[in-house]
Amino acid sequence: MVDTQTVEIAISVNGCDRRLSVEPSDLLIDVLRDRLSLKGTKRSCDVEVCGACTVLVDRLPVSSCTTLAVDVDGRSLTTVEGLDENGRLSRVQQAFVDHAAMQCGFCTPGMVLATTALLEINPKPSEAEIRHFLRGNICRCTGYIKILEAVKSLV
Ligand code: FES
Ligand code: FES
Repeated sequence: MVDTQTVEIAISVNGCDRRLSVEPSDLLIDVLRDRLSLKGTKRSCDVEVCGACTVLVDRLPVSSCTTLAVDVDGRSLTTVEGLDENGRLSRVQQAFVDHAAMQCGFCTPGMVLATTALLEINPKPSEAEIRHFLRGNICRCTGYIKILEAVKSLV
């Protein structure tokens, strides 16, 4: 019989303090989706290539598919569910809607979170800087033009 060790972690998720018992091998994406029911975080490649699983850890984008839950102990996380401002879409979310910067929407949570982080670091990015920052987020639908237009509208 395998003796499973669990580890207690304390994290802030979308402004709520959570204490969880996790296994050392538990991935952050599984904890968010399966334990906390935050299904906005998407799983696609599972190898840190597509950006669908992006969440913010201490306001910076991280691939939750390759991050261990134990490694975010004590950190502050934001998922797409935590972006709304008093029940309204954040300005980044609204810009994506206004510019039809989504088709299937699968990449959108990751794109929106990465864009949110970018604009906090650099409120006036050039197009080249936007393209560079979002290079880790793959969209299979839009051809990126609408996404770029949405982000540029916020600058
Ligand atoms: S599912 Fe994590 S980067 Fe693709
Ligand atoms: S809108 Fe479908 S993958 Fe980006």
